[in-house]
Amino acid sequence: MLAVENLEVVYDDVILVLRGVSLNVPAGQIVTLLGANGSGKTTLLRALSGLLDMHDAELTRGSIALNGQGTADLSPDEIVRRGVVQVLEGRRVFSELTVEENLRLGGYTRSRHVKDGLAEAYDLFPVLADRRRSTAGYLSGGCPYGLRQAAAGADRSS
Ligand SMILES: Nc1ncnc2c1ncn2[C@@H]1O[C@H](COP(=O)(O)OP(=O)(O)O)[C@@H](O)[C@H]1O
Ligand SMILES: [Mg+2]
Repeated sequence: MLAVENLEVVYDDVILVLRGVSLNVPAGQIVTLLGANGSGKTTLLRALSGLLDMHDAELTRGSIALNGQGTADLSPDEIVRRGVVQVLEGRRVFSELTVEENLRLGGYTRSRHVKDGLAEAYDLFPVLADRRRSTAGYLSGGCPYGLRQAAAGADRSS
């Protein structure tokens, strides 16, 4: 369960971008966030992933909790290890690596269980199993999108 409460985010100490943002993502459910360009969707995702610092932004109010534990003191990699993973928009894969190498990178944080991660990914996206040794940059159609999603899914610590 992800709980966001009354979030306020400021860029460059002065630009107030998020104010009073609250939402819950219960376990096993899908929550969609809609908004016009510039309304702050990306900023919220940066806050969830602990990436505000690197964009000169700051959480000035509110809290984010993952399964009851606040994330304010967690580094981005610790947040990933707790299961918050972003699937980037577009066809962003490591294009010079093979499908399987991409999946192994996606599963980096659970490297001891990488075989399970690969099996799950191939189970969900059988076409990726057929193409496991193909160079990811040459994938066509929906394959790169599936690969990104599978690689993000492989990145779970449990
Ligand atoms: N690095 C930044 N520095 C200053 N302002 C920013 C920065 N990034 C985004 N913003 C501003 O924050 C607002 C929300 O942007 P963003 O979170 O990218 O919205 P969305 O993803 O919904 O299009 C916009 O007004 C944008 O100009
Ligand atoms: Mg955006």
